Amino acid sequence: MCGIFGYLNFNSPKTRREILQTVVNALKRMEYRGYDSAGLAFDGAKNETGSRQTQLCKMPGKVKALEDATFAIDTDMDEVLNNHCGIGHTRWATHGPPSKVNSHPQRSTDNDFVVVHNGILTNYYPLKCFLEKNGYQFESDTDTECIPILLKYLWDTKGDEQLTFLQLVTRCAQQLEGAYAICVKSHLFPGEVIATRRGSPLLIGISSSSKLNCDHIPIMYSAGRALGLSRKSSMTLFDEGIETDIEYFFASDASAIIEHTNRVIYLEDDDVASVVDGGLSLHRVRSSSSANDTQRNISKIELELQQIMKGSFDSFMQKEIFEQPESVVNTMRGRVSFEKERVVLGGLVDHIAELKRCRRIILIACGTSFHSCIATRQLLEEMTELPVMVELASDFLDRQTPIFRDDVCFFISQSGETADTLMALRYCKSRGALTVGITNTVGSSISRETDCGVHINAGPEIGVASTKAYTSQFVALVMFALMMSEDRFSKRERYMEILQGLRELPEKIKKVLELDDQIKELAKEMKDNKSILVMGRGYNYATCMEGALKIKEITYMHSEGILSGELKHGPLALIDDTMPVMMIVVKDHTYEKCLNAVQQVTARNGKPVFICEEDLTKDLSRFGDKILSIPPIVDCLKGILTVIPLQLMSFHLATLKGLNVDFPRNLAKSVTVE
Ligand code: F6R
Repeated sequence: MCGIFGYLNFNSPKTRREILQTVVNALKRMEYRGYDSAGLAFDGAKNETGSRQTQLCKMPGKVKALEDATFAIDTDMDEVLNNHCGIGHTRWATHGPPSKVNSHPQRSTDNDFVVVHNGILTNYYPLKCFLEKNGYQFESDTDTECIPILLKYLWDTKGDEQLTFLQLVTRCAQQLEGAYAICVKSHLFPGEVIATRRGSPLLIGISSSSKLNCDHIPIMYSAGRALGLSRKSSMTLFDEGIETDIEYFFASDASAIIEHTNRVIYLEDDDVASVVDGGLSLHRVRSSSSANDTQRNISKIELELQQIMKGSFDSFMQKEIFEQPESVVNTMRGRVSFEKERVVLGGLVDHIAELKRCRRIILIACGTSFHSCIATRQLLEEMTELPVMVELASDFLDRQTPIFRDDVCFFISQSGETADTLMALRYCKSRGALTVGITNTVGSSISRETDCGVHINAGPEIGVASTKAYTSQFVALVMFALMMSEDRFSKRERYMEILQGLRELPEKIKKVLELDDQIKELAKEMKDNKSILVMGRGYNYATCMEGALKIKEITYMHSEGILSGELKHGPLALIDDTMPVMMIVVKDHTYEKCLNAVQQVTARNGKPVFICEEDLTKDLSRFGDKILSIPPIVDCLKGILTVIPLQLMSFHLATLKGLNVDFPRNLAKSVTVE
C-alpha cells in the first residue's frame, strides 16, 4: 500500500531539523500503510555555486530506523531554510524486496529527480527497457525507478525548449499506466514540488498563520503549454496575499497532516498539483471530459487521528473487509487484461514450461491461507488437468509426505513468514520440486526462498483475522489456473466466462458489502449462542471452513464448517431448534444436493440462515426467512462472494460482545514458531 508525503514551507523559516522531523513524524503516522522500509529526500548544504544537491536517506525496517539514520547525517541540522521541499515514503514492497536501494525516494543520476510513489506501475517494464536502450542505468528492482529516470530522459532530450517542472512531470505522467500517487522533487527546481495521482489516494493540506480567503482552487487546463507559473500568476489563498507564510503537506492520507492543519484538498485521478514560489495551482494530466470539472474544494477535516488511520471504520479488520473491492483489483492489476483476454503472472512466466510439464501440484499452507487452497483446488484440477493436493503445512511435515522432482509445490502465506509453511518449503526444495510462493509480503522468507511466485498486492493486513488477503489469494490462484489453460482450445469458453467473472468481481463484492446492516441485525440474534454451524459444499466448502475460523478466532464462540455431504454421517446429530446454522446454497452443480441438506436440517427443526444467490431467495423462503442474498457470478468465484457475509458476521458478533476484533486473545498475526 505505501504512504507518501511531501512538505513544502514558503516564507516560513524552518531549521533542517524541524523540516526532517515533520517528514519523519508524518511517515510514522502512515506506518500502518506499509512498514518494511522508509526514506526521505531534502536539500543539502549550499555548494560553491550557491546551489544545493538533493540528499537522500533510506533505511530498511520501520520509520524509527530512518529517523535515527536521518539525524546521524553530517549536514547542518540547524541551518534555516525559508523555502524548502522535503519528501518521504514508508513502503510496503510490491516490486523488489525491502532494502535500502529499493526504498523510496527513487532517483535518477546525481539525484536530479527524486520521486516517492504509492501504487503499481503496470507498464514499468517496457518503460525500463526503453530507457535502458537509451543508455540510462537502473539500480533498484522497483517499478517506481522508471519515473525519475523517465523525467531525466525528458529533461535531457528537451533541446532548447523551456520546460517548467509542471510540464515535465505532466509529460512523464502521460506515459505511466497502472496506479500511482507521486510527489516529485528536483534540485533543478528548488523550492518546488509537483504531485499527481491516478488510482492511489493523494491529498494536500494547507496551513498558514493568516486566514484562508477561499474554499476552492480552480483547475487550470494548460499543463501542456509553458506556463512559467509564478506565485503571482497562481492562486493567492490568503487574506494577507502573497507575502504570508505557507506550508503545504502532500500525503496519502489525512493521518499524516492532521496535527498541522484540517484544511485539505483531495486530488482526483489525473490532477496535477504544482507549488512554485509558494503558490499552489492545480492542472490535469489530460484535458477533462467533464466541463463541470473546474475546481477542487478545500474541505475541513473534523476527524481524530485514530479514526483517520482506520478511515470511517472502527477497526482495521472492518476496514480490510471493506477494502476488498479494491484489493482484488490490485491483485489483478497489470496481470489480467480484459481487452487482450490474457492473464500473465510476471513472476511465473519464466517457469511456465516447467509448470506445464509437472506431474502434480501441491498447495501447502496454514489457516486461512489453507482455505484459499481448498477454495481453488477444483478449478485448478479442471483447468490444468493435473492432480492437485492441498496440505496443511504442519500435517504435511508430520507425515514426511513423499515429494518428487516433477512436483510443483505452492506455498501460500499472507505474511510469508509462517514457520510451518516455511519448513514445508525447505523440505520440498531439498527434494528437488519447483517451489512457488503466493505471499502478500515481498521480501518475506517464503518469497525469497521459493523459485518463483506471485505477490498478491492486497496491501498490509493489520487485523489479526485475515480477510482481504484470503480473497486476494483466491484471485491469485484463479489467475494461475487461467494462465495454465490459456492455450487450451477445449477450455476457451470456460476461460472466457471466468475472465468475465473476474471483471465483474469488484462491483459484486460492493453489492455483498451492502448486506452489512442486515448481517448486524442477524448477529444481534445469534450473539448469545454457544456455537454456530456453517454448511455448504463444492466450491463453497472452503467458505464454510473459513467462515467458521473467522467466528472462532474473534468471537471465541465454537464454530464448525461442515461439508453438507457429510451431514448425515454425524453432524446432523447436532441439529435442533436451538442450534444456529448458516447454510450456503448457490446455483451450481451442487444445488440439488444443497437443497437436500436444507431439508435434512429443517426436518430436525433447524432454523437456517441462508447465504444464497438472489434468484434463489424465493425457492428458499419456504424454509426460513433469514436470507442473505448475493449477486450471481461464475461458479468458481462464488466462494469470494459467499465468504464476505461470514467475515461481516464474525466481525459483528465480536463487536456486539465487546471484543477487540483486531487483536483476538492468544493469537498473533504472523506465526513464526512451529
Ligand atoms: C486466520 C489467520 C491465520 C493465518 C495463518 C497463516 O484469520 O489469519 O489462520 O491464515 O496463521 O498465516 P499466513 O497466511 O501468514 O501464512
